[in-house]
Amino acid sequence: MYYKTDPEFPPDFMWGASSAAWQVEGGVSEDGRTAAIIDLNSKKKKPFTDNSIAADHYHHYKEDVALMAECGFSSYRFSLAWPRIIPNKNGKVNPKGIEFYNNLIDELIAKNIKPIVTLYHYDMPVWADEEIGGWQDRKIIDAFEHYARVCFEAFGDRVKYWLSINEQNMQICYGSWLGVDKGCTNWEKEKWDINHIMNLCHAKAVNSCHELVEGGKIGPVPGYVPIYPESCKPEDQIAAMNAEELTEKMWNDLYVHGEYNGFIKRFWKENDIHPDIRPGDMELIKSAKIDFMALNCYRSNVAKDCKPDSDFLELKLNQDGVKGQFVYPKYPGFYQLTANPYVETTDWDWEIDPTAMRYMLRYIWDHYQIPIMITENGYGAHETISEDGKVHDAKRIEFLRDQIYQVGMAIMDGCEVISYNPWSFTDLLSTGNGMAKRYGLIYVNTTDKEVLDLRRVKKDSFYWYSRLIKSNGSDWGR
Ligand code: BG6
Repeated sequence: MYYKTDPEFPPDFMWGASSAAWQVEGGVSEDGRTAAIIDLNSKKKKPFTDNSIAADHYHHYKEDVALMAECGFSSYRFSLAWPRIIPNKNGKVNPKGIEFYNNLIDELIAKNIKPIVTLYHYDMPVWADEEIGGWQDRKIIDAFEHYARVCFEAFGDRVKYWLSINEQNMQICYGSWLGVDKGCTNWEKEKWDINHIMNLCHAKAVNSCHELVEGGKIGPVPGYVPIYPESCKPEDQIAAMNAEELTEKMWNDLYVHGEYNGFIKRFWKENDIHPDIRPGDMELIKSAKIDFMALNCYRSNVAKDCKPDSDFLELKLNQDGVKGQFVYPKYPGFYQLTANPYVETTDWDWEIDPTAMRYMLRYIWDHYQIPIMITENGYGAHETISEDGKVHDAKRIEFLRDQIYQVGMAIMDGCEVISYNPWSFTDLLSTGNGMAKRYGLIYVNTTDKEVLDLRRVKKDSFYWYSRLIKSNGSDWGR
């Protein structure tokens, strides 16, 4: 529907931004934190820097929270580092880890900023991987539950919004990118066991949150990429639905309905895949009732028909930030992804598609009718400080304006959206492109080649977003 007026946001709408521990904190060996698998993974992404220092939020958190308050935030979505809280297999809690997050949370609360906290954003402790078997061994379920309960007990008096596992679907779809496939010999089959174990961890976290946090709400964080059919050819529509099922819908159905859907069960049967689902597992999954869906959305995809006798083609992300390197994957018998001629792209070939935001919100609301928050959305770009000492990120302003406008349109369409948190507040480490791909509203002065003074510089987008927030989504700065 086209509306006669600009969108309106609910009076209690939460405006903020987003980060993840391993990408923002640094301080990886400080105060008892032990290594995470993602630390090792980040060292493989040369020539980019690793996560040892990142934005050094560990030492700058007070300054960062003060900047959030200046911007007018009412929420901040961040994650806890498991190996900072439980550094060893013995399960003992690291008081220094608790202290750091207590300080951060207290600082936020003092500034009226609601913490939205992710339990797991890729930092599997090395001890859990090496001594327990990581996601491949069911022993991880108890270890994860213990960690989650420690977090709920330590922070649940002040943190009421919790997120279980970040982008479980993307971790399974693109296992090697984040190192989740470490040690696997037959990923295409083993990933479904890992996925099932993650589902059990998610379910334990949901139930523990409801048991331990008074008034606590918890949801999963799927990565969502709307998928359009390439044409009105009926086979393209089915291909788009196949892609939707295999990259996102089967996870969302399970989170909401507590069951593996018929499509995925049939897919497993066709491919002789038998995930290790044990008695009691599905009852546990079904008992975990989520309170909302948190969604990460950056871009959209296009799918077309792909005959079973086609050749398999693996997805190849653009790692250099020079347009034209993205290789769209082909899954014979299911779908082939392809470029969208109707939208522009970033330097990393990510589609810039604000309408995808409205599509996603409509799709999720239509299917599941539960409240939704946006926990990631953003524009990654090469950036430097200009000669005038400022950072002029007009493209990011345009990106955010168009995306947030579509959030507003979806609210007008009837979707219940409660919060918007773009990626990211400060610049931070990209999953594969170090500090070269910047997302922040705040510039952090450091590079992949050398660590600089790490000073914070407010980008033009900071000022634009601040005006929008302070007008509760009515000053679009046009
Ligand atoms: C999301 C992840 O999928 O995408 C973040 O949750 C990540 O951790 C973000 O940083 C952007 O991706 P990238 O590869 O540009 O850092």
